[in-house]
Amino acid sequence: MSQKTWSEVDDYLNDRIVRPEEALAAALEASRAAGLPEIAVTAAQGKLLYLLAKTLGARRILEIGTLGGYSAIWLARSLPPGGRLVSLEYSPKHAEVARANLARAGLAEVAEIRVGAGLALMPSLDGPFDLFFIDADKEGYPDYFRGCLKLSRPGSVMVFDNVVRDGKIINAATRESTVRAVRQLYDDIAAEPRVEATSIQTVGAKGYDGFCMLVVGR
Ligand code: SAH
Ligand code: DHB
Ligand code: MG
Repeated sequence: MSQKTWSEVDDYLNDRIVRPEEALAAALEASRAAGLPEIAVTAAQGKLLYLLAKTLGARRILEIGTLGGYSAIWLARSLPPGGRLVSLEYSPKHAEVARANLARAGLAEVAEIRVGAGLALMPSLDGPFDLFFIDADKEGYPDYFRGCLKLSRPGSVMVFDNVVRDGKIINAATRESTVRAVRQLYDDIAAEPRVEATSIQTVGAKGYDGFCMLVVGR
């Protein structure tokens, strides 16, 4: 199986059951036009986040790494009346594009983007959050894990993106800082008795990677 097949299967699934709404395609188009990197989650992955948030009945969601707001639109769409998404983004330019995309999707009142380094912003946030989606700089993942734990309650769920990286994570001798950080995250999760975790390897339009999901203990 190859990237071509994975992308064609994603196209097929999008057409049949994922069915991303128009505002999502528009957000990708506007992000591309603004020169943002094309590294948002896929539609199928975004829908998974949306369904997970719905299943949990999440009312307060924290995202770290907004980019153009693509995953933020999926997550914000899942919220019940009165629910809120806070998304942290380092780049003022990315945040500006994301705010316009969220506004076009009718979500300006539901989603708030805060600009700055995720780790620096976290202490100013009021927890607890029901769901966390961590997708910013990979070097920060171990710190984001600690920070999100502080903002969690028993039953909170965290999802980390990009935790398989073409399988590079099994290379203990890697010098890639992103891969080393993801391996540190796994070590930290393993050493934290309050959480239960798994990782699911994924293929699709964005290649071979994975999601790590964990629940904070009751
Ligand atoms: N979640 C988005 C993709 C995020 S890409 C989606 O799926 O649609 C990663 C984003 O993290 C980029 O926009 C990058 O600018 C941002 N980022 C990088 N370092 C960061 C930091 N220290 N704090 C917050 N955001 C950061
Ligand atoms: C890449 C992909 C991502 O999902 C991300 O959050 C950061 C980078 C990438 O493919 O480079
Ligand atoms: Mg990602």
